[in-house]
Amino acid sequence: MAHPDAAVRFYDRFAPRYDRSFQFYLRPSYNLALEALDPNPGERLLDIGAGTGELELRLCRRVPDLHLVAIEPARGMADLARTKLQSAGCPAQVLDGPFESQDPTTLGTFDWIVACNVLHFLGDPPAAIARWSQALKPGGHLVIVTLDGGLLPIRLAQPVLRSAIGGFTGAHRLAEVEDYVRGAGLAVNLAERRRFSPAVGALLVRGKRDMPVGA
Ligand SMILES: C[S@@+](CC[C@H](N)C(=O)[O-])C[C@H]1O[C@@H](n2cnc3c(N)ncnc32)[C@H](O)[C@@H]1O
Repeated sequence: MAHPDAAVRFYDRFAPRYDRSFQFYLRPSYNLALEALDPNPGERLLDIGAGTGELELRLCRRVPDLHLVAIEPARGMADLARTKLQSAGCPAQVLDGPFESQDPTTLGTFDWIVACNVLHFLGDPPAAIARWSQALKPGGHLVIVTLDGGLLPIRLAQPVLRSAIGGFTGAHRLAEVEDYVRGAGLAVNLAERRRFSPAVGALLVRGKRDMPVGA
């Protein structure tokens, strides 16, 4: 099992090359996340493991008045996200450190939470999803995009991915991710596999936190 900080150390070093790498997978994965995210102006959206801020840039262009908060534990990635978002005039807030180190009161609650390409770096995905879901407002949505572990080429490539990408813990199958989201008390209202090429694809799962009865 990868050390929990291995991905953070890897991405800290890898940050300057990130936006030029894995684009055959990353670009379509952002589009997939954007299909499931439908925020209104004025709403609050949290991006967990935001990387270099590519998803925020796209969200900012689409919904200018969105209140965007990004959490990114790898300093190199977070610094790039800040620079890019600032120069694009996108008023997103980028917070350092993992989700667990944030003060929940200061962080607040969100209409939308997205974790794009983060799940396959976690040691305990169900526990992480349960924690993230605590930060959803009633009626809020959690959107997860992650490598499709149901694809045979990805399953066969896992040993290579583990040795090449620091902290890679393994790809998941659609039913597993749906179970994690349901286990966090959310109702799954979108669950899809999307193939980007014969060898690569991603999963999209969206869960909704119920509104309290009578609200
Ligand atoms: C493949 S990158 C994805 C970045 C961005 N979301 C994207 O799709 O381009 C994975 C990111 O997850 C972050 N990460 C690793 N472990 C994490 C954790 N426990 N909580 C949140 N983010 C984490 C890494 O620092 C890295 O920036």
